[in-house]
Amino acid sequence: MVLPSPIRAAPHVLQLLSQLHKTSLEQEAVISANTSFANGTKIFSTEILGSLGDKESTNNPRDDFDRLMLDKFIALDEDKCQFTYQLINSMNATNIVEAGTSFGVSTIYLALAIAETKAATGKSGIVIGTEKEAEKAAIARKYWAQCGPEVEQEIDLREGDLLETLKSDLPIIDLLLLDIWAPLALPTLKVVLPRLRPGAVVLTDNTIKGNKGYADLLAYLRTPENGFQNMTLPFTNGFEMSVYRPE
Ligand SMILES: C[S@@+](CC[C@H](N)C(=O)[O-])C[C@H]1O[C@@H](n2cnc3c(N)ncnc32)[C@H](O)[C@@H]1O
Repeated sequence: MVLPSPIRAAPHVLQLLSQLHKTSLEQEAVISANTSFANGTKIFSTEILGSLGDKESTNNPRDDFDRLMLDKFIALDEDKCQFTYQLINSMNATNIVEAGTSFGVSTIYLALAIAETKAATGKSGIVIGTEKEAEKAAIARKYWAQCGPEVEQEIDLREGDLLETLKSDLPIIDLLLLDIWAPLALPTLKVVLPRLRPGAVVLTDNTIKGNKGYADLLAYLRTPENGFQNMTLPFTNGFEMSVYRPE
């Protein structure tokens, strides 16, 4: 039996989300069939880039990879988006950082969720999205406009390299979603860390299949002195939930 979606949103938003997830999965299937990135699903965004990152001297593979990804969604899986939405509602999170926005699919869930928690708590809040490709940012903004002001007004999209754009003007953060190329995950966490509130949650995509690419991040999160309690949730390819409980 297929359960109804937990997402509270207007029918046109739900329809757009399901269409965007479908397109994203179709693109991923084509990429894995037509490239040497033969692992399928989203692994090229973690393990493969991790290994490409080791070969920076050869023809700039990172640029090649970015070019390949320029017209790709690589959206967070629908069930992970729904889980994140539920979690935000349960913890009354209102300030979120999303590392890696792409065409803004997961961002829509984050915006819908904080609209609810803001209304429920009376607190202010914002979803801070990050995207370094201007073309992708423009398309994300187009989808958010299709959703309407209830989504659009909840998002502050910071264009450019997130290691720069997240350096300033961060509120106290309730939740950080790491849906970014693996080599950037730990540097991103370190930029946001001073603004994480005790009890904040860090979610990281693909931590089972991408465990090699994420080795530095996982080692950091799993070092007890760094203050994180970790659990790998059994979504496809893994979804790490790390709760920040500093001493
Ligand atoms: C996996 S995708 C994000 C998918 C998105 N969360 C969703 O569910 O639709 C990762 C995105 O991070 C972007 N990105 C890569 N390096 C970046 C950087 N240094 N700063 C900001 N964005 C970056 C890529 O262009 C890509 O669009």
